[in-house]
Amino acid sequence: MKQKEFTSRLMHVVGEEGVVLNPADQEFYVNDWLGKAHGRTVAVVRPRNTAEVSAIMRLCHQSQTPVVPQGGNTGMSGGATPDMSGAQVVLSLNRMKRIHEVDPVNNTLTADAGVILADIQKAAHGVGRYFPLSLGAEGSCTIGGNLATNAGGTGVLRYGNTRDLTLGLEVVLPDGRIWNGLRGLRKDNTGYDLKDLFIGSEGSLGIITGVVLKLFAAPAGRISAWVGAQQLSHVVTLLNRLQSACGPRLSAFEMMSAPSLALVTQHLTGHESPLPKSYPYYALIELADTNMTGLQDMLQDALSSAIEDQLIDDCVVAMNESQSLAMWRLREGISIAQVKAGKAVKHDIALPISSLATFVKEADQAIHNSFPDFPIINFGHIGDGNLHYNVLLPLDVAPAQYKENTTALNKRIHDLVTQFNGSISAEHGVGTLRRDELRRYKSSVEMDLMITIKRALDPNQIMNPGKLL
Ligand code: FAD
Ligand code: MLT
Ligand code: ZN
Repeated sequence: MKQKEFTSRLMHVVGEEGVVLNPADQEFYVNDWLGKAHGRTVAVVRPRNTAEVSAIMRLCHQSQTPVVPQGGNTGMSGGATPDMSGAQVVLSLNRMKRIHEVDPVNNTLTADAGVILADIQKAAHGVGRYFPLSLGAEGSCTIGGNLATNAGGTGVLRYGNTRDLTLGLEVVLPDGRIWNGLRGLRKDNTGYDLKDLFIGSEGSLGIITGVVLKLFAAPAGRISAWVGAQQLSHVVTLLNRLQSACGPRLSAFEMMSAPSLALVTQHLTGHESPLPKSYPYYALIELADTNMTGLQDMLQDALSSAIEDQLIDDCVVAMNESQSLAMWRLREGISIAQVKAGKAVKHDIALPISSLATFVKEADQAIHNSFPDFPIINFGHIGDGNLHYNVLLPLDVAPAQYKENTTALNKRIHDLVTQFNGSISAEHGVGTLRRDELRRYKSSVEMDLMITIKRALDPNQIMNPGKLL
């Protein structure tokens, strides 16, 4: 099919305003926000509903046109960017923004995949419920993108990943057929769990168009605290103590190394460290409950005894929501500060929590020995074992040098992760960034199973080619 005929058939499906052909208007869709992934596209198509997605996929199936699904384009692994061929279509879900139902009795919310995460949170709040997925990009990422990457964020410790928050899905398959699995059931054992195939599949198996999410009782408030410690092992011990003392009330436990915090205070305006002195490690702790009685004392007692036992050196408990927000802004500023400060070689890794401190000791040593000039930016969701163990190269590093260092650093860190029985991809997705690394670390049996599933669902290989597999 000729390009002109193809685009006019797209317009027939979604209307002229639903197809972006002008290169200047395509800019947003063909580059990632990190400035690392760049591509070209035959057209950006923006359907309004599932029927339109289905018609687009029938057309792409017929013409064998590759499709790159895209939500908010906030991803960090290059998964939503087309390649340079100019032959791929970007299918953006950013016009599919309807919340169809919020059911506070069944504790579920049913929405289109293009709904912004923050709007899902607000809709849950509107009926006195809570949707706990929370991450720095929540004002622009979509729930479809969250599902496609099985996003994590800061609430995983208490509520799990996006997968754990999902009851049902609707998916348009590569040939245009619609699978309607929008069921709000907590028990449904009628064979294979199909939704789990699509969650975390990074657009490689189909287009997620709708979702039924779990809602929870809304916490009556939260208490945040910021602590400084000399050693990561002490921070991990504090995590364990708080889990014993507070149980499920411990809703977040984030870690930042001193260089990670310094990036934020130096490169972003209006941020100040909550403690007067600096320490090698910091933790941001949050407790929340439907009944806040006694929570402040619980946290104060646990932190006081941690100071007495010389586990932590200092701490401050937020006295109000604005102090709490200031602490969270520090933590969530790291991603942006990192982009301003240099070119990060990212490692989004998961480790058994019991191995975190030893892993970091060995990894730090290895980097100091081989790359003594590059700062290590180590932070993350240690409550669930996810580290963002990044190495910062200078902003003006030559592309060839960046590539060479990235290959060497990735191998060093990922080999060590594997020795510790960890994962090289915790929450940002594999995309193009870790695709080759994945082959190195997954067993041939796992790779075979994944390729078998891909071939069965997408025999013409039109779904997000070159990503993940
Ligand atoms: P996109 O970037 O558009 O796409 C991501 C992938 O999903 C691509 O492979 C794409 O093809 C696929 N995809 C998108 N929509 C669909 C769909 N409907 N059907 C099928 N495939 C689809 N991530 C975390 O997990 N935890 C964090 O704490 C976190 N913090 C972040 C902080 C900042 C400041 C930023 C900018 C990003 C952060 N991220 C984090 C990464 C990113 O926000 C998440 O990966 C998010 O889930 C991506 O959603 P999106 O809608 O932007 O997806
Ligand atoms: C975060 O947790 O802030 C992001 O997922 C990490 C990153 O920017 O690398
Ligand atoms: Zn993260």
